[in-house]
Amino acid sequence: MKVIRISLAVLGLLLSLSNPINAAEELNTVCPISGKPVDPKITTVYEGKTYAFAMEACKTKWISARDASLYHKLGGKAAIDAAVESFYVKVLADDRIKHFFDDINMTAQRRKQKAFLSAAFGGPQPWTGKDMRKAHENLPGLNETHFNAVAENLQKTLEELKVPKDLIDQVMAIAASTKDDVLNRKPAGK
Ligand code: HEM
Repeated sequence: MKVIRISLAVLGLLLSLSNPINAAEELNTVCPISGKPVDPKITTVYEGKTYAFAMEACKTKWISARDASLYHKLGGKAAIDAAVESFYVKVLADDRIKHFFDDINMTAQRRKQKAFLSAAFGGPQPWTGKDMRKAHENLPGLNETHFNAVAENLQKTLEELKVPKDLIDQVMAIAASTKDDVLNRKPAGK
């Protein structure tokens, strides 16, 4: 009986340690607006995560930027995550481009694409992965036809999700802005 009680206590402790609700949340130490050390009393919660700032003015600026962002207009994390999931279902079924992903860990790829697009749309977290030129430099034969196929799949995904046209246009403009880097071309006019 005693052994069972001790085992349950150990199990409870392990569960509480692995439970994210009980785990102490790590606060950012650098203010995302000023780059200065944060005041841990000046915080805001966004999508369940706490962000700290150096000054009240930074917090106000950051919240306004989030509210005005394409990320927010699209529906935030849940909407972007869902869109990326269906986008890759289409990409992997598309004979024009699916071979590029043959040896790619698609769980990691989906995670990275969610993070990249979220940052590009003005989400709360910066992109910390590779720049687009580096990320695509080892894809032999990658050309404009492939880029356009990817863009087409992205557009179709958003249309199916009934995203308003003006927002789709903004997403597609951001996607197009990566074209020279993804295709490892010189930027136009340079
Ligand atoms: C709107 C255009 C595109 C965006 C925004 C984009 C975004 C990304 C991102 C965020 C990564 C991960 C970078 C990292 O590892 O840190 C990546 C990798 C990759 N992308 Fe793209 N991509 C685009 C176009 C394309 C196209 C046209 C293809 C091919 C048809 C492609 C194929 C790949 C592959 C195969 C990888 C994995 C490379 C590796 O892990 O070695 N991407 N892309």
